[in-house]
Amino acid sequence: MTKIALITGGSQGIGKSIAKTLSEDGFAISIVARDKEKIKRSVDYINNHNGDAAGFVADVTKPEDVNRAVENTVERFGGLSVFVNNAGVSYIKPLLRISPKEMKKVLDVNVMGTFYGIQAAANQFIAQNTPGKIINAGSFCGQTGTVNLAADSTSKFAVRGLTQVAAKELAKYHITVNAYCPGIIMTPMAEKDDFMMDRTNHVNKGVELHRAVDQSALKRAGKPQDVANLVSFLASHKSDYVTGQSYVVDGGITYH
Ligand SMILES: NC(=O)c1ccc[n+]([C@@H]2O[C@H](COP(=O)([O-])OP(=O)(O)OC[C@H]3O[C@@H](n4cnc5c(N)ncnc54)[C@H](O)[C@@H]3O)[C@@H](O)[C@H]2O)c1
Repeated sequence: MTKIALITGGSQGIGKSIAKTLSEDGFAISIVARDKEKIKRSVDYINNHNGDAAGFVADVTKPEDVNRAVENTVERFGGLSVFVNNAGVSYIKPLLRISPKEMKKVLDVNVMGTFYGIQAAANQFIAQNTPGKIINAGSFCGQTGTVNLAADSTSKFAVRGLTQVAAKELAKYHITVNAYCPGIIMTPMAEKDDFMMDRTNHVNKGVELHRAVDQSALKRAGKPQDVANLVSFLASHKSDYVTGQSYVVDGGITYH
């Protein structure tokens, strides 16, 4: 079977970089996201650079969409080898000002979306009777509670827990489950977060980003490619003896 990787939220930011990198690693790529136009741009880029990609519209908060995305991928490419639960949202606000609706939205995408992805991928690997790899998006804020990131921290701690349980329960099917935990990575999400953080703390544009980056050992913001390099390892045979782990890629902000 050709190596086939499905990436949720693969149409922009970190997910797009993961899609390009896994294509360079020899995977056929299935990009799953909500925006048809953005999906098309990512798919076209890969197909114009010696890759083989297809895109499917899905909302990861709907289990039927996630299951259909797996079915579409299998129909198009003949199977599935790696499932990257990358889609995510964030909300920067002090704890006391987050509304129930905002909290639920973050948990719905980041936790329930990841849960649906794990189930859909694992059921496909079991049906195929092949080993498989599930790779989840965590965060540096899922390692330690982070001020103004209550919704994100809560959701990404949950992803870390799900990653560990899934690794233990799915090992008997030769499925490994790991997570990558980005720090401050320059993507559309990070730009929105920095804007909200500056506004929350009443400082000028860019001040909070500068402060956060200055706290890192490597003193720079991350690039999507920095994260994609870790995912490339987790998607490869080089990680076959690794499961249940959450790897931080943040230039040295978080230590545990
Ligand atoms: N950028 C960072 O600094 C950072 C830090 C920590 C963790 N992360 C995590 O990394 C992952 C990627 O982040 P990013 O910075 O590339 O974000 P981004 O906002 O740039 O991209 C997120 C992608 O997820 C998709 N998505 C969101 N909700 C969806 C839904 N309901 N159904 C389908 N797709 C949906 C978006 O359309 C988009 O393609 C996320 O899980 C995020 O929480 C990012």
